[in-house]
Amino acid sequence: MWQLRLSHMSDTLTITDNRTGKIYELPIEQGTIKAMDLRQIRASADDFGLMTYDPAFQNTAACRSAITFIDGDKGILLYRGYAIDDLAERSTFLETAYLILFGELPTAPQLEAWIREITLHTMLHENVKKFMEGFQYDAHPMGILLSTVGCLSTIYPDARRISQEDGRRLQIRRLIAKVPTVAAWAYRHSIGRPYVYPDNDLSFTGNFLNMLFKMTELKYRPHPVLERALDVLFILHADHEQNCSTSAMRAIGSSQADPYSALAGAAAALAGPLHGGANEAVLRMLKEIGTVQRVPEFIRRVKGGDGRLMGFGHRVYKSYDPRARIIKQTADQVFAVTGRNPLLDIALELERIALEDDYFISRKLYPNVDFYSGLIYQAMGFPVDMFAVLFAIPRTAGWLAQWDEMLRDADQKIARPRQVYTGAGRREYIGIDARK
Ligand SMILES: CC(C)(COP(=O)(O)OP(=O)(O)OC[C@H]1O[C@@H](n2cnc3c(N)ncnc32)[C@H](O)[C@@H]1OP(=O)(O)O)[C@@H](O)C(=O)NCCC(=O)NCCS
Repeated sequence: MWQLRLSHMSDTLTITDNRTGKIYELPIEQGTIKAMDLRQIRASADDFGLMTYDPAFQNTAACRSAITFIDGDKGILLYRGYAIDDLAERSTFLETAYLILFGELPTAPQLEAWIREITLHTMLHENVKKFMEGFQYDAHPMGILLSTVGCLSTIYPDARRISQEDGRRLQIRRLIAKVPTVAAWAYRHSIGRPYVYPDNDLSFTGNFLNMLFKMTELKYRPHPVLERALDVLFILHADHEQNCSTSAMRAIGSSQADPYSALAGAAAALAGPLHGGANEAVLRMLKEIGTVQRVPEFIRRVKGGDGRLMGFGHRVYKSYDPRARIIKQTADQVFAVTGRNPLLDIALELERIALEDDYFISRKLYPNVDFYSGLIYQAMGFPVDMFAVLFAIPRTAGWLAQWDEMLRDADQKIARPRQVYTGAGRREYIGIDARK
């Protein structure tokens, strides 16, 4: 047994170890104690020392970061101190990516140079095209994306020079520019259409739409409302501090792997239905519900433990996800162009009932960013298989910013959590004939 006493006066934590009677004074810095400070607390000389048990890292800060701030209770999201609402209203994705990566909003010449640098890197090596052509005709675009990003590490062996800042910057530019091309080609591949080369006259999102949807016309002209809506969605998804895929990016990067390999791993983490696959799951759920009349029955099932209300709940937000609020406005603008998505009425009714229901209120379950984004993507003509891919494009900026920050952080080492071993004690090897 051991006891804790918090002293706010001296910003220390006093721990009395009842096993030994010893008292320990641990410093508290920025609302944390150092887990390694616990190691000195031992019951005996051969005791390994105290550790924390924190599956899924629910209460462990694994790094210091100056990129994204979230106050989950108040529903606040800031990139480098700027509110997500202001950025969604006034910034562009490439400007926001610059802010996330380099810490400040760019000046006009800096932004111009940044856009030029990204635009210059949108092409893919023809061997990458051949690599992509080898995928099964109906391969999932997310599988194509993450494998192809991994393949890029073989095209750019210089990416292993991660200790040099100029080398890292080059790979950052390449990745931000090339991931949309890979993503668009993954989509074209999955529907059996020829790949479209980048059009560098267009904006970042305009060119992405071009590579997705261009048919036989000589010049693709994106609809300005849809182009801006996608840009806003990209801003909203650019970073979200230490989520599952970002933690994967940092963990893989901590072994000093090249950024393409680390980013392929991050994209793999994003592919799961509890993370980037959630908006795909929302649409499947809405389709399964089918009509507004069936919403109460569905809510009853969820409350009875049969499935989850996808697009609701968040590990960090315990109030309305600020991104969901912005997305709802964007949805109205998109539907004015594309026509209303018939599943919207079901989503609105689900939200209305859930926000009044004690099950959801008491668990602080509110709509998250994925609740409405899938409806917008579908109205814009994207198949559900593409949703996680659309998430990966902007998140590339966040992953890279976090990776770069991790590499510059003197506190960081190769990620290597501890475990509490619960298996068998040492035992004698049994020959195969003697086994029962
Ligand atoms: C996002 C999510 C994984 C966060 O999970 P978490 O922080 O580990 O929360 P928990 O799974 O511990 O859930 C806490 C409680 O709320 C319930 N809950 C959480 N999300 C729920 C949902 N979407 N629908 C119904 N119940 C939900 C859990 O069953 C649990 O209830 P209990 O205390 O009675 O057991 C979870 O809310 C979820 O699965 N949401 C749906 C998927 C989704 O939209 N993901 C996208 C995130 S951006």
